[in-house]
Amino acid sequence: MEPQPKLQPLISSKRIEAAVKKLASDISQDYRDKNPVLIGVLKGSFIFMADLVRLLDFPLEVDFVRLSSYGAGKKSSGKIKLAGGLSTEIKGRDVLVIEDIVDTGLTTNYLLDYLRQKKPASVKLCALTEKPSRRKIPVRIDYLGFTVPDKFIVGYGLDFDEGFRYLPEICFLED
Ligand code: IMP
Repeated sequence: MEPQPKLQPLISSKRIEAAVKKLASDISQDYRDKNPVLIGVLKGSFIFMADLVRLLDFPLEVDFVRLSSYGAGKKSSGKIKLAGGLSTEIKGRDVLVIEDIVDTGLTTNYLLDYLRQKKPASVKLCALTEKPSRRKIPVRIDYLGFTVPDKFIVGYGLDFDEGFRYLPEICFLED
């Protein structure tokens, strides 16, 4: 059997809860009358998206896309593919992308380009976390939860080889 990676706590569930509340309040102010389409990036954003959407008390729609860049392991393959597309017509709509993490920025940049080609009224980005130290391409994050150090993080939806998504807090893997 492979040795289990060691986990170190990084962001407690209390801090996550407070950050999600703050994001929901900022998003509510900007989108209350816009009937936006929130697009979650699977699989990593599923818990964050579910918690966030429950705190938004105005009309909105949700959709999901699935992108693949990482495969197994901790390093990006750099090749991004849309593995599951949108089912909502976003032309003329206000779109808010919900990401778990912006790391190199390649995945998010690819997705934002793809969405802009569909001529939405606006596209903004909400990310639970970002790792600015590893950015390869500039990405504007309009709503951000946490800046994290250059560590591989798991929990609250984020995985390592499909494991650890269920953790209620965010931890990092020890090298
Ligand atoms: P990027 O294209 O390098 O910005 O990577 C984006 C995707 O890689 C994220 O949506 C995650 O699925 C995955 N990823 C990047 N860093 C981490 C991490 O520290 N933990 C878990 N997944 C990560």
